[in-house]
Amino acid sequence: MSEIKVLSGAAASEADRRQQLVDQLKHTPLPDGELLHNLGLYLSRQTLSRILFLDELYRQIVPVHGVVMEFGVRWGQNLALLHALRGMYEPYNYNRRIIGFDTFGGFPDVDPKDGSRVKAGDYGVTSGYQQQLEQLLALHEAESPIPHKRKFELVAGDAIQTVPRYLRDHPETVIAFAYFDFDIYAPTKACLEAIRPHLTKGAVLAFDELNCPEFPGETLAFQEVFGIANYALRRSPLNPLISYVVL
Ligand SMILES: C[S@@+](CC[C@H](N)C(=O)[O-])C[C@H]1O[C@@H](n2cnc3c(N)ncnc32)[C@H](O)[C@@H]1O
Repeated sequence: MSEIKVLSGAAASEADRRQQLVDQLKHTPLPDGELLHNLGLYLSRQTLSRILFLDELYRQIVPVHGVVMEFGVRWGQNLALLHALRGMYEPYNYNRRIIGFDTFGGFPDVDPKDGSRVKAGDYGVTSGYQQQLEQLLALHEAESPIPHKRKFELVAGDAIQTVPRYLRDHPETVIAFAYFDFDIYAPTKACLEAIRPHLTKGAVLAFDELNCPEFPGETLAFQEVFGIANYALRRSPLNPLISYVVL
C-alpha cells in the first residue's frame, strides 16, 4: 500500500501515546460480542469532543427541512455518526438523506491559495475503500429505523464537477446541513457557489478548517463566496477548529 499523507500537529510524545492506544485496540482482549459496546475505552478526548460537537450541530437542524451533505468524506466517520444521530433524534424522518462527496483518492489538485504544505494525492484512502464504506453504512442502515429506504449516498469524483451535476439531477434538493471538510480552496469555492441557492434559512453551514493557517484555502473560499464580515461564525468549547454559521 502506498503511503497515505496527512498533516499532523501532534508532538512526538502525543503521537507515541496514540500509537499505544492503537496497539491496545488492535490487540484487545475483549470478546467480539462485547467490543462494539466498549469502544469508548479507546476513544481519545479529541475524538469524543468531535462526536459531541457533531451532536450539537445535528440538534440544531432537527427543525430544519432538508438533506445533510458532507463535502470531504474520507474514511466516513462523520457520515456514520450523522446516520446514528438521525436514528436517535428523528427516526421517522426518512426524508433526511445524508449525501457524501469525495474523490476517494485524496486531493485531486491543489491551488497556490492552499499554501505549500499540501499537495495533490494527500488525504487518500486505501484502494476500494468507497465500496467498503458503502457496505459499512448499509449495515448501519439495516440496524436503523425504516431500513428498507436507502437514506445515504456516496458520490465519487471531483466535487467541482459532481456537486453541480448532483444538483442538476436533483433540482428538488433543499439543504439543511452542509459540512465542509475538503480542506482546500477550489472545491470549497465551487461547492459553496453550487449549494448556495439550495440552503434554506436556518440551515447550518459548518467548516472544519476556517481560520486555519495550515489550510488557508478553505477560509479564502468562504470569504470570496459568502464574506466573513457578513456572517456570525459560531464555535463550541468542544473543538478549536470547527466553526459554523446558522443561515
Ligand atoms: C480532511 S478529509 C475529510 C475528513 C472527513 N470529513 C472526516 O471527518 O473524517 C478531506 C477529504 O476531501 C476530499 N477532497 C478534497 N478535494 C476534493 C475534491 N475536489 N473533490 C472531492 N473530494 C475532495 C479528499 O479526498 C479527502 O478525503
